[in-house]
Amino acid sequence: MIGIFDSGIGGLTVVKEVLRQLPNYQIVYFGDTARTPYGSKSPETVTKYALQDAQFLIDQGAQIIIVACHTASAVAAEELKKRLAVPIFEVVSPAIRKALAVTTKKRLGIIGTSATIASGIYQRRLKEADRELELITQACPLFVPLVEERWVKKPETKMIARRYLYPLKLKQIDTLVLACTHYPLMREIIQQKIGQRVKLVDPAAEVVQEVGQYLKQHPELEQKLTRGQEHKFYVSDITDKTRQSAKDWLERPVRLEKHLLE
Ligand code: DGL
Repeated sequence: MIGIFDSGIGGLTVVKEVLRQLPNYQIVYFGDTARTPYGSKSPETVTKYALQDAQFLIDQGAQIIIVACHTASAVAAEELKKRLAVPIFEVVSPAIRKALAVTTKKRLGIIGTSATIASGIYQRRLKEADRELELITQACPLFVPLVEERWVKKPETKMIARRYLYPLKLKQIDTLVLACTHYPLMREIIQQKIGQRVKLVDPAAEVVQEVGQYLKQHPELEQKLTRGQEHKFYVSDITDKTRQSAKDWLERPVRLEKHLLE
């Protein structure tokens, strides 16, 4: 099974990509809805939660794990790779590769949660890759609750998006990385506010492409991966809103099962 976890149900944007690009494999998903958001928590807490999330997926039979959550990818990926025996895929590396491949003027913008931006991982790794890059990062902490309240088309959201993105627009970035699970769900308004000429990088699509390539290069693992459409979706808390958002975001009915992690 392909295991995918997130701080909540935003990671369904990655599930959607797995269903599109690798439709034969069975998925087991965990969304830590009881402890979300991770984006405002300390690296120690996020790492502790991420290890528990990944271990739960392994206990359910996950043979590889995709860390859909950017915050967990940014602060906990190294620890997960060190401590767990299954291949771990995080969203930062493929996003960086794609951004470097598509930028034409070497002027990059990165938007994410406060924890992702504060981790400095994008700044560090992009500068290592190319010293000439001009980088502008921006934490957008209000985007996650706005997406969760389904306010993506409201005038207030447009104003907030304009406020966050204006400094990046002023710097004339040519590429913008959507470094948070929720941002692809407000792609339209982000594109509108940053300008039509700016290329948006969606790490969900990139990480799943990377997993597909890895499976081609590792046929012994590929053959062992469980196939089928009986996907499992676990969350640590369920409300009507969780159910509704899961259905809306995945664009298909989802049966959520509750599992609390301690
Ligand atoms: N899943 C988180 C991320 O991609 C966003 C929501 C949260 O802050 O937990 O960074």
